[in-house]
Amino acid sequence: MAKRIAVVGTGYVGLVTSVGLSDFGNYVVGVDINTRIVEKLNSGTATIYEHGLEEYLQRNLKTQRLSFTTDIDAALKAAEIVFIAVGTPPKEDGSADLTQIERVVHSIADNLDAFQVIITKSTVPVGTNRWIERELTARAPGKEFAVVSNPEFLREGKAVQDFFHPDRVVLGCESEKAREYLEDVYRALNLIHVPFVWCNLETAELIKYASNAFLATKITYINQMANLAEAVGADIHTVARSMGMDGRISPKFLHPGPGYGGSCFPKDTRAIASTGDEFGVDMSIIKEVIAANEIQKERVAERLAFLTGPLKGKTVCLLGLAFKAETDDVRESPAITIVQRLLEQGATVNAHDPEAAHNFKALFGDRVTCFDTEFEALAGAEALLIVTEWNEYRNLDLARAREVMTGNVIYDTRNVLDSEKATSLGFVYAGIGRV
Ligand code: UGA
Repeated sequence: MAKRIAVVGTGYVGLVTSVGLSDFGNYVVGVDINTRIVEKLNSGTATIYEHGLEEYLQRNLKTQRLSFTTDIDAALKAAEIVFIAVGTPPKEDGSADLTQIERVVHSIADNLDAFQVIITKSTVPVGTNRWIERELTARAPGKEFAVVSNPEFLREGKAVQDFFHPDRVVLGCESEKAREYLEDVYRALNLIHVPFVWCNLETAELIKYASNAFLATKITYINQMANLAEAVGADIHTVARSMGMDGRISPKFLHPGPGYGGSCFPKDTRAIASTGDEFGVDMSIIKEVIAANEIQKERVAERLAFLTGPLKGKTVCLLGLAFKAETDDVRESPAITIVQRLLEQGATVNAHDPEAAHNFKALFGDRVTCFDTEFEALAGAEALLIVTEWNEYRNLDLARAREVMTGNVIYDTRNVLDSEKATSLGFVYAGIGRV
C-alpha cells in the first residue's frame, strides 16, 4: 500500500529520493528550509543537474503525489514515514557535523503522534541512529516509533539511474512493524529482484563507510600504481584492464586520475578515520589513502611545471572543473587544489567546463577566467591541462587546438585524449601512468 512520506532535505539525496519514492506510487512531501528551493521545485524546475531528474520531478508533481514545502511541522505530522536526508558536512577535525540531523530529530520528536518510521538516508557516523532512538525516547516519551538506517549509494551524475536500479538496498531495521512499512515503500525494487540487506543499525551505518572508503582506497591504489607505471615505463591501462580480468578485483574504479574528490569520498574517509580514533581502532590504511590523495592532487601542478618549465607568466587552459563528469558539482574537486597551485606559481588560468563553471567562479571569482567554449579557453594558451573526463573533451579537435594555442604541451590527467594523434600533431603529450 502506498505510504505518506516526508523527506527532510532536498539536496542530491533528498531530492532524488523524493522524486523516486513518489514515482513508486507513494505520497511524498519534500521539506526544505529554503523558500527559493521549495518554490523552484514546486514549479517543476530541478535545483541540481542530474540526468532525467527534471522529467521525473514534473511527472510526479502532475500526479500530485509529490510536493515541496517549508512547513516541516505540517509535513511531519501528516507522515507515516520520515526520511532524513539533510547534510552532514565535515568539521575541522574530520568528524561529521550532525547539527542539521539534530535539528530534524528534535522536530520529529515535537510532532510525533501515531506510530512513525524514521529513516536516516544521510551518511552518519556509526552510532548516530542509536542516538536518534535515545533522543526520541527522551523527548517524546511513550510515543511509538522505529528508527531505520537506510544508507544511500547514489552516484552524482547517475543518481536517478542508481535510485531505480540499485545494486542493493541496505536496511538497518530492528522492528518487524517498520520492516512491513519498508517492504511497502520499496515494493517496486523488490519486484525487480534488487537484493535487500536486513541488519542492525550499526551494521547498516558501517556498510556505507566501508564501501566508500574501499572505493577511495581502490582509486588511490591505482593512482599510485599509475605513478609507478610512469616511472618504470609501463602502461597503467593495460595493467588495470588485466587486473580487472581477475573476478576478485573487478575492472571498475581502476581509472587513474588527479585524485578523487566530491562531497562523499573525502568526507567519508575522514569521518571513518575519526571514528577509528574515537574507538581506539587503527584505521591506518584509510589515513594513508587520505594523505596519498592529497599528494596526487598536488602532483598535477608539479608535473605540468616539469613539462612547461616555470609556470610564472604562462597561460594554462584548464578543461574540466567538476570533480567528475556529468555533474556541476565542484566540492573537493581536484581542480581546486590544481588551480590554487597554478595561480601561486604565477600562471594565468583560462578554464572551461560544460556545467560547473558557475560553481567554480563562486570560489575563485575573477582569479580564473571561464569561457563558454573549449576553443576560447585554448586561445593563446601555452599548455592544455585536462582535469575532468567530460565526453566532449575526448573528441576535442586537436588540430584546431594546436592552431589556437601558442604552446604545445598537453597534460591529460584523465587519459581521455588520443596520445598518438596529439604527438603526431606536434604536441608534447603526457597522461597519467602512460608512456
Ligand atoms: C560516491 C559513490 O560512488 C556512491 O556509491 C555513493 O553513494 C556516494 O559517493 C555517496 O556517498 O553519496 P560520487 O561521489 O557521486 O559517489 O562519485 P564517484 O563516481 O564515486 O567518484 C568519486 C571520485 O572518484 C571522483 O572524483 C572521480 O573522478 C574519482 N574516480 C572514480 C577516479 O578517479 N577513478 C575511478 O576509477 C573512479
